[in-house]
Amino acid sequence: MSATARARQITAADIRARKGQGPLVCLTAYTTPMAKIVDRHCDLVLVGDSLGMVVYGLPSTLGVTMEMMIAHGQAVMRGLGQAMCVIDMPFGSYEESPEQAFRNAARLMRDTGAGAVKLEGGVAMADTVAFLTARGIPVMGHVGLTPQAVHSLGGYKVQGRGADGDRVAADARAVAEAGAFAVVLEKVPDGLGRRITADLAVPTVGIGAGNGCDGQVLVVDDMLGLFADFKPKFVKRYADLAGAADRAIADFAAEVRDRAFPTEDHSFADEGKA
Ligand code: KIV
Repeated sequence: MSATARARQITAADIRARKGQGPLVCLTAYTTPMAKIVDRHCDLVLVGDSLGMVVYGLPSTLGVTMEMMIAHGQAVMRGLGQAMCVIDMPFGSYEESPEQAFRNAARLMRDTGAGAVKLEGGVAMADTVAFLTARGIPVMGHVGLTPQAVHSLGGYKVQGRGADGDRVAADARAVAEAGAFAVVLEKVPDGLGRRITADLAVPTVGIGAGNGCDGQVLVVDDMLGLFADFKPKFVKRYADLAGAADRAIADFAAEVRDRAFPTEDHSFADEGKA
């Protein structure tokens, strides 16, 4: 697509203005081909640090580096037309100080062209969110289950049940009031998702947070069924790509062993152009 024909990319201001205007659709992407497909259907594309587990097979997101996020952010941006790209700040790249967060957020946005960064944390990160947004960096918040804190949370558990709901609600409010243009709510009860959505002036995007949020996000590989052995309760599988890939690869292996592949159709004649 030429630069002039390129569709206008959705911005953080557009997303913020969508509060109460109907559900926002968001998926992760980590590669150019997947970004091209996701772009046709989604408002937001998240280059999530989930790529550490999904693409690299790491045990958690803690081992993800700035270099990994930049390489995959660039790949995703090559595939996007209209959808907004949000890129995750990896563990250790923003928690030390607002200045450290600014340096790394600016690098992520400059080197990838993404329209915003996402960082995990609530009340403790509010000053950092305010520092970044005051300096031209749109920030998406992420509260509830924050996977980078898996060790202090004691696992990937539902957050905010019972009286603990007030803590998660305070976290969401803190980052929204600090300037976040939207807030991801991960793995909280449906009722809490609705309560926070009603409380915030900016959109909430839920993952395992029920059907009352302003939008929904899933890890694209999860909803496509690319992991036969991993299916959290909040994921609906819309395809069985692991099964389809397994069957296709088994067919290929059998045909190679039987000398049924390649045929003449896949071979070159001694003479000719192609
Ligand atoms: O890293 C990620 O993919 C995320 C989403 C699951 C919200 O943070």
